[in-house]
Amino acid sequence: MSFKFLTAAEAASIVKNGYIVGISGFTPAGSPKATTAEIAKIAEEEHAKGNPYQISILSGASTGDSCDGVLTRAKALKYRAPYTTNSDFRKAVNNGEIAYNDIHLSQMAQEIRFGFFGNVDVAIVEACDVTADGKIYLTAAGGITPTICAKADKIIVELNSAHSKNMIGMHDVYQPLDPPYRREIPIYKASDRVGTTYVQVDPKKIVGVVEVNMPDEARGFTAPDPITEQIGVNVANFLASDMKRGIIPSTFLPLQSGVGNIANAVLGALGRDKTIPNFEMYTEVIQDSVIDLMKEGRIKFGSTCSLSVTNECLDEIYANMDFYRDKLVLRPSEISNNPEVVRRLGVISMNTAIEADIYGNINSTHIAGTKMMNGLGGSGDFTRNAYISIYSCPSTAKNGAISSIVPMVSHADHSEHSVNILITEQGIADLRGKSPAERARTIIENCAHPDYKNILWDYLKIATKGQTSHSMRGALAMHATLLETGDMKNINWADYVK
Ligand code: COA
Repeated sequence: MSFKFLTAAEAASIVKNGYIVGISGFTPAGSPKATTAEIAKIAEEEHAKGNPYQISILSGASTGDSCDGVLTRAKALKYRAPYTTNSDFRKAVNNGEIAYNDIHLSQMAQEIRFGFFGNVDVAIVEACDVTADGKIYLTAAGGITPTICAKADKIIVELNSAHSKNMIGMHDVYQPLDPPYRREIPIYKASDRVGTTYVQVDPKKIVGVVEVNMPDEARGFTAPDPITEQIGVNVANFLASDMKRGIIPSTFLPLQSGVGNIANAVLGALGRDKTIPNFEMYTEVIQDSVIDLMKEGRIKFGSTCSLSVTNECLDEIYANMDFYRDKLVLRPSEISNNPEVVRRLGVISMNTAIEADIYGNINSTHIAGTKMMNGLGGSGDFTRNAYISIYSCPSTAKNGAISSIVPMVSHADHSEHSVNILITEQGIADLRGKSPAERARTIIENCAHPDYKNILWDYLKIATKGQTSHSMRGALAMHATLLETGDMKNINWADYVK
């Protein structure tokens, strides 16, 4: 079968007002870039004529500015799920302009298959190759592409020559059957391959192929500062000490690492700590730091959903595929983040918190309880199922006006029942085997910033004693004080005692 080649504008015209659109990729890696920008133009034209035009987006994770950014600015988005990092999108969500559903990334594909989001009208999928019999070879990410291709009425393929055909063979595409027929996912080590190297679709569903040459829009990260550097060293020291104690086997266990500046610093420190043996990753995102450690031989293998690396780094991978071919595998997000596999492999999870409370509950997503930052990502997929789940964050934010350690999180993403270790630049709180009262003592003592230690000890004095001691009036008072005065240190607990 030969495909119809379309311009991006022609492809965009297939997408009608009210459509539910599935998007390939995971982080800006592997997301379509040309058709979505043209959809934004259609939205602007229709709005100028006084006509409604909005679509819903279902994606693997965040996309680039040419998807989430342009669509948001064109007011073309009605609804979106899940994770995204775009700052214009964030503003629109927090202004109540877009309905945003933030769900665990491992669940996205199966929830589409279960019908939780309704019918997928169109899938827009980036590929480095497509064959007449419907084999789509993906680019730098797995995401939810197998599922959106299976469920969508129509498929638009963006054939992007900025991605090398050397990518062919890197993907391991596997979709589990749905209950009641689901079997185990037969991955027993990070490097196991269980699927195909392509997404098989019905070629009749491919309504157009758009040829483009557009690089990915991955973000760079800021260089580690003394605080993130110290957090990294603390994480590495913790892992080395748990290995010495025999809690982590001497062969080590696969690591998952979250996104962002702190995650990058943590990986750098792990690579430098030679008491930790060369290790593998079973993770959802590989950033530049992982590739650097692979070149040094510190990381032996990386299973991931996406190569969320800078374009220079991606070009380097494409140019040296002989080196990387047996060291990397790209999987769909429901496999890279799969709770069953994470628990079987004994993955050690390392994610970043916005704030943690004195009992070990974690807020990964909301600033001061109400404003969405990015979303949950895959942090919950890994945290709940990890061999050891670690959270780290600087002990303060915004020049010390905010303590990241608070009496009660202002939004709860991960509960005290799932979080084993909390690490700040101040130190390490090992929460394993501890009661809530013991957890509070170790978190305040080891993780809180010196400016906030006494404030938190004083909170415990006004807390009503119980299994988990709290003051119902004071639990969120540090946040209220921040909103009222601009600095949590202005808290006066006397105001909260009856
Ligand atoms: N109150 C207010 N703002 C806070 C804050 C707090 N308690 N803690 C952090 N922030 C702000 C920082 O000041 C910074 O603001 P800026 O962008 O204006 O400088 C911003 O949040 C990011 O913090 P930073 O310290 O640079 O950390 P990061 O880049 O590592 O990001 C998360 C941290 C939590 C936002 C990020 O890791 C995330 O989105 N996590 C959720 C998804 C996830 O965990 N995925 C894991 C699987 S890959």
